[in-house]
Amino acid sequence: MNVLVIGKGGREHALAWRIKQSPRAGTVFCAPGNAGTARDGVTNVPIDHTETDKLQRFCAKEQIGLVVIGPEDPLAAGLADFLRAKGYKVFGPSKGAARIEASKVFSKEIMQSADVPTAEFRVFDHPQPARDYIGTRDYPVVVKADGLAAGKGVVVCKTAEDAVKAVERIMTREEFGRAGRKIVVEKRLEGEEVSVLALVSGRTFLPLPACQDHKAVFDGDQGPNTGGMGAYCPAPVATPELMKGFEQSVFFPTIHAMKRGRFPFQGTLFAGIILTNQGPRVLEFNCRFGDPETQPLMMRLKTDLLDLLEAVADERLQEFENKVEWDPRPAVCVVLCSGGYPGKYDNGKVIGGLDEAAKVPDVKVFHAGTKFDAANRVVTDGGRVLGVTALGDTLAGAKARAYEAVKLIEFAGMHYRTDIADKALKPKPVPVPQEAPKLPAKFRKPGGEKPAAE
Ligand code: GLY
Repeated sequence: MNVLVIGKGGREHALAWRIKQSPRAGTVFCAPGNAGTARDGVTNVPIDHTETDKLQRFCAKEQIGLVVIGPEDPLAAGLADFLRAKGYKVFGPSKGAARIEASKVFSKEIMQSADVPTAEFRVFDHPQPARDYIGTRDYPVVVKADGLAAGKGVVVCKTAEDAVKAVERIMTREEFGRAGRKIVVEKRLEGEEVSVLALVSGRTFLPLPACQDHKAVFDGDQGPNTGGMGAYCPAPVATPELMKGFEQSVFFPTIHAMKRGRFPFQGTLFAGIILTNQGPRVLEFNCRFGDPETQPLMMRLKTDLLDLLEAVADERLQEFENKVEWDPRPAVCVVLCSGGYPGKYDNGKVIGGLDEAAKVPDVKVFHAGTKFDAANRVVTDGGRVLGVTALGDTLAGAKARAYEAVKLIEFAGMHYRTDIADKALKPKPVPVPQEAPKLPAKFRKPGGEKPAAE
């Protein structure tokens, strides 16, 4: 079967690489793909996801048996509906169902109607009632533009003044265009975040092993947020008991609420869940595979990915219940970025050491933002450039392997985090209880503070 993967990032490279290993895969195409997909024998096609007629003609010409849509933008724009209506088999949700990610308001309303635990929130379509509400809240809060805003429409506000400014930027100045016509104001959730993805088809869902991403650009979760600086899988913090709870209190009710609302979900439903002191709360849903979560997931998946994705598209995912096999070894992905990312950066830097890194056992270098230059060299072409992913007998072993390969790669300005997976490897600080226990008077410092640790 010929397969077309839509997208050009690390997630799409990992999906195309795994699909290509299926004995049933014919030619695997990626539109537009990157240098890494091409180096792995995937045929890149220079068609943008917005060129829908061209895509349709390409599918007809190449007799595409399955289209796999990677990113949220084409899903939110209705590419899956368009291609399905033309008779193609597609992995990915309809435009209506993709609103679980593309509309924060829709997503929160689904969670509310399905009784899914999430942060307390209110929706506004005018600035003044939002400002009035802001004045009544405890801080921090988060102000979110309703629509997709390239990851920039979410503002964490430490004070009411910050929140008023966020409303001004999003609603009055329309910095994110139509995405900011409505906003969600919600309580900021505190705790570790875990990424739980499930394949969903009709009423059937199949959770994948939990992962943890690293959103901040610098070690120790410092600095501005990025698309994701690295991920590992499985995440030990998501215990089997918690995973069971996520199935029952997150996935089951959400999928049923979407079906009841006539937006049945088909594809990958991704729940970002914060483990708060009050219990797990859903921060957000995404309507697609995560990036970089997909890279360690695909390293560990042993079941034929093409079979799995096709079963989702055919609504016969139940055939895989208790049958999906995973490599028991953990996987760690370290993302290498362009100098300046997540701010401004230059493209076109020549990347060295890819062949040497590929020789490290159990390592796969997924490309995220790369292309070939006129001299056929692999050069940078994006903020996140590579996802160096390794398996190891232990999480520490996988981390060591990944960084061993990272050290062999170079390009001008390259930067990366050095602490991917440490969340699970280093002992955690003792959580601060909600109500600090009263210390005996002799341990109290003047002013009621706890004494400094000795
Ligand atoms: N890793 C977070 C995301 O894919 O949105």
